Amino acid sequence: MPISHAARRQLFLDALEGQAAVIPAAQAMQHHADVEFPFRQDSDFWYLTGFDEPGAVALFLPHRPETPFVLFVPAKDATAEVWEGFRWGTEGAVQQFGADVAHPLDQLEVLLPDYLNGADGISFRVGRHSAVEPLVLKVWAQQLDRAPRLGMAPRQLSAPCPILHAMRLRKEPEEVERIRMAARISAEAHEKAREFARPDQNEAEVRATLEQHFLARGTRGFAYPSIVAGGDNACILHYTANNAPLRDGDLLLIDAGCSLSDYYNGDITRTFPINGRFSGEQRELYSLVLQAQEAAIAEVRPGATAEQVHERAVRVLVEGLVELGLLCGDLDGLIEQGAYRHLYMHRTGHWLGLDVHDVGAYRLGEHHISLEAGMVLTVEPGLYISDRLQPPEDQPAIDDRWKGIGIRIEDDVAVSQNGAEVLSAEALKSIEAMER
Ligand code: GLY
Ligand code: MN
Ligand code: MN
Repeated sequence: MPISHAARRQLFLDALEGQAAVIPAAQAMQHHADVEFPFRQDSDFWYLTGFDEPGAVALFLPHRPETPFVLFVPAKDATAEVWEGFRWGTEGAVQQFGADVAHPLDQLEVLLPDYLNGADGISFRVGRHSAVEPLVLKVWAQQLDRAPRLGMAPRQLSAPCPILHAMRLRKEPEEVERIRMAARISAEAHEKAREFARPDQNEAEVRATLEQHFLARGTRGFAYPSIVAGGDNACILHYTANNAPLRDGDLLLIDAGCSLSDYYNGDITRTFPINGRFSGEQRELYSLVLQAQEAAIAEVRPGATAEQVHERAVRVLVEGLVELGLLCGDLDGLIEQGAYRHLYMHRTGHWLGLDVHDVGAYRLGEHHISLEAGMVLTVEPGLYISDRLQPPEDQPAIDDRWKGIGIRIEDDVAVSQNGAEVLSAEALKSIEAMER
């Protein structure tokens, strides 16, 4: 079954309980001078519309049951289309994208007050959409001004995120299928990159191999700037320079995933020896991270929490680091004090979907959200041994033989009815597979 934006719209309209929602598309972003970044649609807007043009605005109007879905879109314009490409225009918005009514974008300011009149409230995410926000606030202010004479006005301005992001957190089976596809193509690219990488190449050449595969498989390209980090560069968590030579004897960490035409993403990390053989220290640490990752994945099932997945990874890592002499002390005390954070300083995963770090709450106050079938998360423990962060005072200094080793292993995991499905399993990760 294809993804049904219309079914999502109906659920969203029902959940709005009489409030009108204003959901803007992303704007085109300037790169420099007359050049723009490749366009990336706003994920909330995409989720509800599947419409991929910049600057559009969707209205959801439960108080107008005859025409609850209104789209404002860039108008057809032969000259603009010569420079920038095809536009669907208002007719396309109705015929192809299911809008009940569509208007050219330049009529938004004039028509918005009338559309929002009669709603119980306005649902709009302030702070994110600088072009549309002043229009929405102006309408609300005018309605409040006129309330004494009209007898009613929207009582509240609310955030649509709690409704929309709870929907996006729980993936439809068709969405899991798309993330499975993104993870598969991402895994293929990792396999190619590992086969390709050799000492004395540049990180950039390996990046090119990954991204060539993403494009050749018909995706939009990378989901986030690829991280191709040899040796100590792997200890920089958001390393994207990707321009250093690969050294014989170092590990190579690759964190890369593709984004499909409908924006579903893969997010995979693999780490392997550039010359095909782990050193003793590299092998010790790699097997520890792998053990932590497999133990953490084994926690993923309905009813567990992302916090439990993280805690399991931390416990395995800390236990192993004590055995290797990189930490010393009582296991529970070390975990409680966070005495491992100079070696493992990030969380073990995040939701994955239309955003790589996808929307959805991890906790509500003290209550951690229970995993449910259809949720998708990454599981990505790592260890980063460098000179950048000093050990806490009561922890051992790090011997030079460990330094310059950065390892992360990251898979994309869907919660299933009885447990978990590793969507990225086609990217190998056993010690044997990492060597040649
Ligand atoms: N690539 C970003 C992350 O792994 O979270
Ligand atoms: Mn990730
Ligand atoms: Mn990643």
